[in-house]
Parts: sequence; structure tokens; C-alpha cells
Amino acid sequence: MRIFLAIDLPEQVVDTLSTIQSFLPVGRPVDAHNFHLTLAFLGEQHDELIEEIHHSLQLLSAHPFELELAGLDIFGGNEPKILYAGVTKNEALASLHKKIRGALHASGLQLSRERFHPHVTLARFKRGLSHKELERLRSYLFGHLNFKLDAFTVSHFSLYRSTLHRDGAIHEELSRYPLI
Ligand code: 2AM
Repeated sequence: MRIFLAIDLPEQVVDTLSTIQSFLPVGRPVDAHNFHLTLAFLGEQHDELIEEIHHSLQLLSAHPFELELAGLDIFGGNEPKILYAGVTKNEALASLHKKIRGALHASGLQLSRERFHPHVTLARFKRGLSHKELERLRSYLFGHLNFKLDAFTVSHFSLYRSTLHRDGAIHEELSRYPLI
């Protein structure tokens, strides 16, 4: 199974992101049902290891915390790949991520050493956007410089299965880990 850990978003946040996304002039929008903040992408794993990871995560202890989405930006620089909503600096989120890394490590899974850059992906871009498309994207970003949403409480995170289909991925929640 192809799996990942993520924080899902309240309906109101999804609705607002969806509205903002609808004005995007270029790119392939992510289905609003799939909006999430990825904590860790685990890739293809065997059922036995997933079971192990699940037990480790059940033992993880962390408190609920507030999360604020702010800033629209792109990954990829001059070759835009992803449009995302950013997250205001958040120690509790960084700490949860660290605990998750620890839990995965304890289960025998080593995540890549890439820096954690929390974000919610809103759209993906094909390679080689034209000059005109880049211009339109820039002006869209410029028009959303002050993007910021009301903070919401994160009281759980989830293990998801992702199944790739021709017209996008389907995400299915396998387990939920409460923060208490
Ligand atoms: P992202 O959209 O937050 O960037 C499920 O596949 C999720 O895992 C994707 O939405 C993506 O999160 C992340 N993901 C997919 N493939 C990945 C990869 N190769 N490396 C890191 N994260 C990946």
C-alpha cells in the first residue's frame, strides 16, 4: 500500500481554499476532498510494517494545537511545480513531526532527511509553462499576498492510503490518532 500521514482540514478551511483555488488561472487543481497537510510520506509499504507503524503511532503522545494557514507560494522556483498554502511557524507542529519521525524510526522506517516544509498543496503544474502562463501565475500570487486564514485546532492526525488513478489520487483514511 502507498501510505502517508497527514492532518486533515476543517470544512470551512477546505471551502475557503477551494474558493481561492478556483481563481487560479493555470495548473491542475487538487480535488478539494484531497486537501491535507502531509506530515510524512511513507510510500509503498508491506502490511506487516504498516501494522508495526500503526502500533508505534498509537503510543505517540502529543497535545492538540492551533494551526494557521498563511501565504500562497510555489515550489519549484522558476519552474513552478506546486502551488501551496503555507503554515505560520508552529513549534507544536514541528514537535509532532519530530515525534512521528521517532515513531517511524522505532518501527524500522527511516524517512528521508529532507527538511519538513509544512504546506497544503492546492495545484500542480505541468513542465514548461509558457511565458504568458508564468505571468498569469505571478499576478495570481501577487493578488493573494495577504492570504491568511483563521487558526483552527488540530486534535488528531491520520494514516491515509493513496491509490493512484489516471484522473488523480484517491485518499482513504485508515486510522486516526487523537492528540490529547
Ligand atoms: P503534498 O501534496 O502535501 O506535497 C499523498 O501522496 C501525499 O504525499 C501527496 O499529496 C504529497 O503531499 C505526498 N507525496 C507524494 N509523493 C511524495 C514523494 N515522492 N515525496 C514526498 N511526498 C510525497
